[in-house]
Amino acid sequence: MIHASTFESKVAKKRERKLKHGKTLSKKWETLQRLNHEDAYRIQSQTPVKDKRIVKYWKKRRSLFSKIDSNNIYMTKELWFSVTPETIAIFLAKFIRACMPQATSILDVFCGGGGNTIQFAMQFPKVYGVDLSMEHIYCTMKNARAYGVDDRIWLECGSWNKIVKKGVFQHVKVDCIFGSPPWGGPQYLKQDVYDLETSLEPMGIEKLLKSFLKVSSNVILFLPKNSNLNQLAHVTRKLLGPYAKCKVLYVNENGYTKGMLCMWGDILTNYQETMSSYNSSDKQEEEKSEENKKEQKTDESITSVYYDANG
Ligand SMILES: C[S@@+](CC[C@H](N)C(=O)[O-])C[C@H]1O[C@@H](n2cnc3c(N)ncnc32)[C@H](O)[C@@H]1O
Repeated sequence: MIHASTFESKVAKKRERKLKHGKTLSKKWETLQRLNHEDAYRIQSQTPVKDKRIVKYWKKRRSLFSKIDSNNIYMTKELWFSVTPETIAIFLAKFIRACMPQATSILDVFCGGGGNTIQFAMQFPKVYGVDLSMEHIYCTMKNARAYGVDDRIWLECGSWNKIVKKGVFQHVKVDCIFGSPPWGGPQYLKQDVYDLETSLEPMGIEKLLKSFLKVSSNVILFLPKNSNLNQLAHVTRKLLGPYAKCKVLYVNENGYTKGMLCMWGDILTNYQETMSSYNSSDKQEEEKSEENKKEQKTDESITSVYYDANG
């Protein structure tokens, strides 16, 4: 695992050691060294991006990272589409802190550019991040530095499936495990009801939840707003028993439902929120989500709440 604040010196030391023994750096370490050397993916906040697909996201850049004008922020093309907006990441980190005041460590499985990882590190002393892409791991490291939390973050580059098989987190204390997995691109909205078994990447909901439960009983997944609630209820009962609950929190930002936070584990599902940030101001979105729930005829395994990031 790489400590985000020492990765530059670690790459240099590793290179020196390998050279001494006539070996070369592994591909992943070489990539990290190259990216760092090139200062790759640094955003020029005042210079509009040329890629037409990204312009829309670039215009909203400050909602992704509020420090984008004052500090160096790093983004790959893919990250423009997938970083969690900062207000949502802040809310989630504070919510987990409120539910678990004694917690010290959290694992962010698909850490991307660090949108969530950074906000977790604002609330918890130890944050682990995992991502398949070394480019994204590098962006998380750099962005964490911009927010001054790199000393609280440890990162692992690799596929989650392999990391679970190797048991990398088996003996690591993790109080809560979070994941914002890829939804399969913007076409997720083309489905009336999002199929959590066939559309979610890199695996279906059952396998994903099962793998998360191996690490901690407190699990949170950020999923599409139109996710199939019956699949959610089914997998909850199958993996956790007939009376288990899954709490669904629909998250609104600027009058638009961004997705839903699905939570398992008594501490998270029983938490009675008194935070004023919960409100039902966006009646239309709330009604739509309620309709969606009714249409899908879910049972008592699912309870839902609404949160508006704009307060
Ligand atoms: C939706 S993005 C996460 C965004 C992140 N929460 C943020 O705010 O920056 C999903 C991430 O999952 C990573 N990913 C995809 N397949 C993976 C796998 N099998 N194992 C680990 N990470 C994976 C992608 O590289 C991408 O960075």
